[in-house]
Amino acid sequence: MTVRELDRGDREAVVTFFGSLGEEGTRFFNYNSGNLNRTLEYLDGRRPGHIFFGAFEDGAMAGILFLWDLDRSVVWLGVGVAEAFRGRRIGSALMDFASEYCRGRGYGGILLDTAVENTAARRLYESRGYERIGTHPSGELLYLLRFPARKTAELPKGV
Ligand SMILES: CC(C)(COP(=O)(O)OP(=O)(O)OC[C@H]1O[C@@H](n2cnc3c(N)ncnc32)[C@H](O)[C@@H]1OP(=O)(O)O)[C@@H](O)C(=O)NCCC(=O)NCCS
Repeated sequence: MTVRELDRGDREAVVTFFGSLGEEGTRFFNYNSGNLNRTLEYLDGRRPGHIFFGAFEDGAMAGILFLWDLDRSVVWLGVGVAEAFRGRRIGSALMDFASEYCRGRGYGGILLDTAVENTAARRLYESRGYERIGTHPSGELLYLLRFPARKTAELPKGV
């Protein structure tokens, strides 16, 4: 599997991917085509502060990962895997990719929300060390992954 940033040339693969989420996946991840439209806007250069990655397996787009609020200290994450590719640890690999990406760039953590009844997503997040920190105003569960603070020696004086 290869994970890389999506670009304009991926438009068709993105549309096919969002059509491959299945009924439940669409309800949880592409309600009213919201994430499809956001991804297409990104491909058109209209989503500053965002980055979208695709996971490709045998030429097919099997998963998507997006990070928002890249201009803040804590970023938002979204992840989805096409129905035919689920249970093959693609979601886990994308979550690990996101952690490395954000930790390596000095972010403080990653936030996300998910529906209470989304058992697969909750299992995925909890297995990657995300902690439940409350409920989003939308009613979804909020999860946070915090990165360790920098060593005292690296902090400015007085901290
Ligand atoms: C949630 C999702 C991304 C998981 O992706 P995946 O590639 O199938 O997950 P993985 O194979 O990496 O499995 C990750 C963990 O979740 C568990 N899991 C996966 N599917 C599960 C299911 N249907 N029920 C319960 N647990 C499940 C796995 O056992 C694994 O746990 P472990 O690490 O303790 O062994 C995928 O189900 C999906 O895309 N769902 C629809 C879109 C969606 O809901 N996105 C999240 C919106 S908040």
